[in-house]
This record gives sequence, C-alpha cells and structure tokens, in this order.
Amino acid sequence: MSIHTPKIDKRVTLTTIAKMKGVEPITMVTAYDALFAQLFDGEVEMILVGDSLNMSFLGKEDTLSATLDQMIYHTQAVCNGASLPLIVLDMPFGSYTTPEQAITNATRVYQETKAQAVKIEGGKERAPIIEALTQNAIAVLGHIGLMPQYLRSDGGYKVRGKSQKDIDQLVEDALALERAGAFAIVVEGVKPEAAHAITEALSIPTIGIGAGSATDGQVLVWSDMFGFFEAFKPKFVKQYLNGASQIRKGLTRYRDEVKNRAFPSKEYSY
Ligand code: KIV
Repeated sequence: MSIHTPKIDKRVTLTTIAKMKGVEPITMVTAYDALFAQLFDGEVEMILVGDSLNMSFLGKEDTLSATLDQMIYHTQAVCNGASLPLIVLDMPFGSYTTPEQAITNATRVYQETKAQAVKIEGGKERAPIIEALTQNAIAVLGHIGLMPQYLRSDGGYKVRGKSQKDIDQLVEDALALERAGAFAIVVEGVKPEAAHAITEALSIPTIGIGAGSATDGQVLVWSDMFGFFEAFKPKFVKQYLNGASQIRKGLTRYRDEVKNRAFPSKEYSY
C-alpha cells in the first residue's frame, strides 16, 4: 500500500478549474495509461490524454494518424488509474471537421470513457464546433497557438505571437473560443507577451505549454518532463527526472544479475 499522501483530495471539476483563475496556478500533465495515471492521481488538477501519445507511446512521427479508437482506449486506461483529476481526451485529427461529426465523436467519448471534457485544436474557425459541443453538454478545452494537428498545413511547428498583429489574432481566436463555451484554453508555443495578452483578455483559464509563465496553468507531456522521450527536447521542456537513464541503469543491473545468477537469490524464490 502507498504511504504517499495526495496533495489534492477532492475530485476536480470544471467549477474547480474556473475558480482557480487568478488564484492558484493549475497543473496539468499528460498520461496514456493506468499506471502513470495512478501516480499522478491527487498530484495535479488535470490529466490530458494527449494525441502526443502517437509519438510518445506509438513511436510515430507526429500526431496526425492517431485515431478516436486509440484515444478512447487510452482514456479508459487513464480513467481506471486516476479518479481525482479532471481528465480530458484530445480529439484526434479529422474527428471534428463539422459540428455533426464532432457531436457524434465526442458523444462516443462521453459514453465510452469517464473523461470530463474533450480538447479541440483551432482558432475562431472552430468556434461553431465548440458551440455545438457545449450546447450538447460536452465540455471543451480549446487549444490555440502552435497546434500540432496543423503541422502539414502550416508547413511546420511555428512559434506564434511574434508580432502585434499575430498577438491580436490570437486574442481574437481565444475570445471566440470563450464565447463558444470553452471552459479553458491550452496556449502552446507562443511568445510570453502573447500568452500574457490572451490570459488578460479571457475570463476562463489559460493553460500554457511553451508559453512562458503568465498563463493560469501549465501542461507538460509526461515522457518529456520525466526524461523518457529522448528523440529531441524542445526548449520549453524542463526535465524533472532523467527517466531513460534510470531505466537503463536498472536494466543493466538486472541483466548483469541474471547473467551471473545473482538473481533470483533465495529471497526471491519460493
Ligand atoms: O497532445 C498533447 O499532449 C497536447 C499537449 C502538448 C497540450 O496537446
């Protein structure tokens, strides 16, 4: 049994998140399975089952080929592991191109998982979709700035908010999502001044990733922050653990002990 005492002992709801704006920074991490979700339970306010799992979990190059079936499967696992954080399923590329399709797919998410919300990438052009979802009792987390699902149409991952014009555009996008009913917005890969302007303009919380410290919360991908994803490290990622090298050390010890018959000793035998 764990002797660890969780920092958060009540289920986090949309109301909890709304009330945190301007009061206390919101913490969010990604998770893709029950084991890690269990470790994060009671430690962070929100868990995102991100389509980043297509890279971190499946080893693909980008998020574009993630499917709704995969997202649902991983969200079921996360919901089995964690009961306290607000769990959000990231709607995969191509699963919300029209309000009707978005409602059908997000309804599946609510019926087949215990996720409390879905995340949708896009600016004001997605407002009608977000409005359709929220009016059909499906909570939506927006996502603006650098949007990984726009990788090919944008011609790469591009940091946003480098000019006043672009900052104004981002603020306009964020306000459109708020009006459409989003309960919070992920702001990814933008200059800190842009994140500040967006956060100031909104009455709903912003959750930043690569957006500086002015947002109402932060989100990181678990395999980046714990040093498991070694392919590359974006500038904004702080590694709180060197997971890959810890695993390698443990594996080397195991291998050596099996090879020299030190494992299993009597202690580990019936
Ligand atoms: O898929 C994901 O993990 C995300 C975060 C980077 C916000 O969208």
